[in-house]
Amino acid sequence: MNKFLTVGDIGDLNAALKEAQEVKKNPFGWQHLGKNKTMLIVFFNSSLRTRLSTQKAAMNLGMNVIVLNVNGDSWKLETEMGVVMDGDKTEHLREAIPVMGSYCDIIGVRSFARFENRDWDYNETILQQFIQYSGKPVISLESATRHPCQAFADLITIEEYKTKKRPKVVLTWAPHPKALPQAVPNSFAEWMKAADVDFVFTAPEGYDLAPDIMEGLTPERDQMKAFKDADFIYAKNWSSYEQYGQILGDCHDPKWASWTVDMAHMDVTNNAKFMHCLPVRRNMIVTDEVIDSPNSIVIPEAANRVVSAQVVIKRMLEAIQK
Ligand code: CP
Repeated sequence: MNKFLTVGDIGDLNAALKEAQEVKKNPFGWQHLGKNKTMLIVFFNSSLRTRLSTQKAAMNLGMNVIVLNVNGDSWKLETEMGVVMDGDKTEHLREAIPVMGSYCDIIGVRSFARFENRDWDYNETILQQFIQYSGKPVISLESATRHPCQAFADLITIEEYKTKKRPKVVLTWAPHPKALPQAVPNSFAEWMKAADVDFVFTAPEGYDLAPDIMEGLTPERDQMKAFKDADFIYAKNWSSYEQYGQILGDCHDPKWASWTVDMAHMDVTNNAKFMHCLPVRRNMIVTDEVIDSPNSIVIPEAANRVVSAQVVIKRMLEAIQK
């Protein structure tokens, strides 16, 4: 494995889930793989879970870890090709990336969508430069369009908590005051379509995801209907793909506010577990009552971020050793 961006990069999902179970049972069992190897994790955007869980996963595997916060610790980086660098950017990614690659064995990169140009974001312009110029295996730690470590952790969590072979899993849009990227719902949908689950997508008109993600999905506009008999509710906000990066109205307007996941919604489910990738805005995405209920599994879901990252890093270390 030399890159981890989409569900296709992980291969057989059952094999990945089995490996996740083994890693969780014996987290320090593969320390020999990481001895004298360095993991570099680069952040263009803020993080709590991704930063800590990736670092922990690499340390569990015996690696040394370096963390770089591009917007705080390093020179300001130019990301566009062919520009005259007479502004505030001191260094170009074209030099910075191979330099970073020379200091490590694996690179993880967080670089969110900018919402300036949909093609620029959906071409994964920053992440692809890391893949092309670093000379090292690259993990997306949430890129412009995907968050695969999160989706893998979500799948591990569903596997752990499911009470039937093929559970009903609902991805629901929920209101938020700011425009958020589509990376988490894109990845969640992509992984759920590949998993052995009955997957339902519900969002208001105007919030469908990219056409390749929506392929095979029939969006349900009636959120209550979507929730009926669900085993897992996965809530998330995202901005519009069609009116790219826009929010389509005030989140306090009842038209949108009615999409907040509350007990009335949860009552029509099959005693569903509540999931969210975090960070979450309480009483906007989900009510206190739901997220504080015994059915909320957001904390074990976040804890599984260590497991998903560790499986991916382990596989990359194994590939390096061959
Ligand atoms: N879920 C997630 O990626 O959290 P952070 O943004 O805190 O890393």
